[in-house]
Amino acid sequence: MWEKVQQTISYIKERIDFKPEYGVILGSGLGSFTEEMQVKFTLPYNEIPNFPLSTVQGHKGALVFGTIGEKKVVAMQGRFHYYEGYSMTEVTFPVRVMKFLGVEKLVVSNASGGVNPSYKVGSVVMITDHINMTPEHPLRGKNDERFGPRFVNMSEPYSRKMIAKVTELAKELNIEVHEGIYLGLQGPTFETLAEYRMVKILGADCVGMSTVPEVIVARHMNLETFGISVITDMGNEESIGTISHDEVLEAAKEAEPKVRSLIRELILKY
Ligand code: HPA
Repeated sequence: MWEKVQQTISYIKERIDFKPEYGVILGSGLGSFTEEMQVKFTLPYNEIPNFPLSTVQGHKGALVFGTIGEKKVVAMQGRFHYYEGYSMTEVTFPVRVMKFLGVEKLVVSNASGGVNPSYKVGSVVMITDHINMTPEHPLRGKNDERFGPRFVNMSEPYSRKMIAKVTELAKELNIEVHEGIYLGLQGPTFETLAEYRMVKILGADCVGMSTVPEVIVARHMNLETFGISVITDMGNEESIGTISHDEVLEAAKEAEPKVRSLIRELILKY
C-alpha cells in the first residue's frame, strides 16, 4: 500500500503545486461545501491512479483543492463506502493520500440516523466518540510503521480542542449543535427498529455507514480529527417507516448551510 500511496502522491504533485493543511470529507448531501472554497484545482477520482470510483447517488467524485482565507484545504467530494464492495483499505485510501499531501487536520462529515430522543431531523451533531461495528477493520493485516503504530491509541478519536472550538463558534453563529456518539455499521440497509433500539442500548446517539474506518486510519497517522453529523432521520416507531435515501439527501441539504458555516469557521480559526 505504501507504494500505491506514493504513486498517487507523485501523480498529484506532478499536476499541482499545493500543500493542504486541512482535509475535508464531504458526506451525503454536503458536497456544496466546496462553494466555501476558492477552488484552485479539481482532480476527478477517475483520473487519479489507485483511487476507487464512487457509485452512490448524491456523492460526486473529485478531490477539490483550494483555500478558505489563508488556509489550504483539500476536499473529498464524495467518499467510498464498504457496502459499495470496496475493501476497507480502498475505503480509507484517500485519507492516506491526504496525509502525504501534507494534511494535518481532518474534518469528516456524514448523514446519520438519530436514536437520541433530544435530536430531530436536521439536528447537527459533533461526534465525540464512536463505536466500531463495521465488519472489517481497516488496520487488519501487517502493519506498516511508515504510516503509524500497530496498536493505535483511541482515547481521543475526535479532537476535544476542535469540539471546544466549534462549540464556541456555533454560539457566535447562533447555530444549535449537539454532541453524540456515532455507531458505524456496514449498511446498505437502514436499521430495523430492533437494530435502532440496539444502537441506543449500546450507548450511541446516532448510526451510519461511514466515517469510522476513515477516522481510525486518520488516527493511525496521527491526524487531528473533527467529525460532524446531520441527523437525516430518526430511528424510532414514529419515523422509521419513512426513511429513504431521497429523504436522507433532502434532510442533509436543509442542514447543509449550518454545517458549511461551522466547518468554514473551524478551518479559518483553528
Ligand atoms: N442509518 C444508517 N445510515 C444512515 C441513516 C440511518 O438511519 N441515515 C443516514 N445514514
